[in-house]
Amino acid sequence: MGSKYLVALTLFALASFVLASDPSPLQDFCVAIDEPKDAVFVNGKFCKDPMLAKADDFFLRGLNVPGNTSNQVGSMVTPANVVQIPGLNTLGISLVRIDYAPYGLNAPHTHPRATEILQVVKGSLYVGFVTSNPENRLITKVLYEGDGFVFPGWSYPLPIQYREISGCCFCCSKQPEPWFDYYC
Ligand SMILES: *[C@@H]1O[C@H](CO)[C@@H](O)[C@H](O)[C@H]1NC(C)=O
Repeated sequence: MGSKYLVALTLFALASFVLASDPSPLQDFCVAIDEPKDAVFVNGKFCKDPMLAKADDFFLRGLNVPGNTSNQVGSMVTPANVVQIPGLNTLGISLVRIDYAPYGLNAPHTHPRATEILQVVKGSLYVGFVTSNPENRLITKVLYEGDGFVFPGWSYPLPIQYREISGCCFCCSKQPEPWFDYYC
């Protein structure tokens, strides 16, 4: 219990935000490549020639595989962002799978310019976020299988396990730089 309160207090100290908005991309897609040979656009990463784009650039297999939660925080994030799916580049959206051991914790983190929606697939989760200054209100909810929850952009989410059962959720978030979104 003590550590839960400590986390909440830390959150209050860290919640402060800046407002901005981002333009939409000018092209349909920009499949990221590391090697600028055959590239046409530059937008954070080099883009593959759209004529050379193929289905596998937009494809990822393995999100059905549970992450290994045998670690200090008792959770594992399996990302599906531009690192795993090059075709996500510039599209501003990504997905993660998070597996939780009993009492597992997803370390407190910020969402720069990202709104997130989460779905609990298995188990239950205690989730919450702190609203921005000056109110800094803590909004929390206990979620069960099939429940969804939204973490508005700029908030400070705190998804932690609530009951002594394991859990699994999928989070989808919209933000301009999907490769930064390792923690949904
Ligand atoms: C999970 O991680 C732990 C600690 O690193 C390791 O000992 C264990 O073999 C891993 N389990 C699986 C199924 O990979």
